[in-house]
Amino acid sequence: MNEPILRVRGLSKTYMQGKIPVHALRDVSFDVSKGEFLSIVGPSGSGKSTFLSMIGLLDKPTNGSVFIDGIEVTGATDSDAPRIRREKIGFVFQHFNLIPTLSALENVDLAMRFARVPKTRRKERAIELLNKMGLSDRINHKPSELSGGEQQRVAIARAMANKPAIILADEPTGEVDTKTRDMIVELLRGLSENGQTILIVTHDTAVSSRTKRVIRMLDGMIESDTKVEGY
Ligand SMILES: Nc1ncnc2c1ncn2[C@@H]1O[C@H](COP(=O)(O)OP(=O)(O)O)[C@@H](O)[C@H]1O
Ligand SMILES: [Mg+2]
Repeated sequence: MNEPILRVRGLSKTYMQGKIPVHALRDVSFDVSKGEFLSIVGPSGSGKSTFLSMIGLLDKPTNGSVFIDGIEVTGATDSDAPRIRREKIGFVFQHFNLIPTLSALENVDLAMRFARVPKTRRKERAIELLNKMGLSDRINHKPSELSGGEQQRVAIARAMANKPAIILADEPTGEVDTKTRDMIVELLRGLSENGQTILIVTHDTAVSSRTKRVIRMLDGMIESDTKVEGY
């Protein structure tokens, strides 16, 4: 049995809102295997974004552990966390979060520059990824010159740049039309079929029904964890 690419054990996060503790995550445990394509669903406030920020090393849990690729990342110091995040995790956001003054190519390139990939290799890989996303005729366009769907595809190329163990996507189709949504889901599914592990937070059942596994959260806990029939 292979080591899961993601292992979460007893994860809890309590925020203080003034003097009132808010239990955003309560003792969550689960495993994800390499190449899984799964969605995290649940009502607003159920802890989905908190969960992604713990896995993505954007914030620290109150209790519990996250292991990525067999390495405990919750033990990372503040100086180690950015490097681990860069090497192990690709983020895709609802609002794309591309740098507006940079072209598609430069946005993807920048992610690898932070990871100290040599210049020629960066350009080669950025072009290869943008081609794969169907953007070969858009590489020199700035975000403002691209449609929402194109911007999200640039963001996915950027997320893939450093060959992350996991892609974390928070409402990646929240801002695009249904046709673009379907295209983005198919693209992500294709990446997962090639071994990329992908977690998507979504409100949209048209998205979650196309992932292989659906984790439903409620009040900071996993309410159900279902393999989708007929996938
Ligand atoms: N930085 C924070 N400070 C205080 N409370 C927070 C913070 N982030 C989230 N929360 C609270 O934690 C709970 C879970 O929030 P969140 O993870 O954003 O849920 P979801 O993404 O499912 O909507 C909510 O009650 C929210 O108000
Ligand atoms: Mg959220």
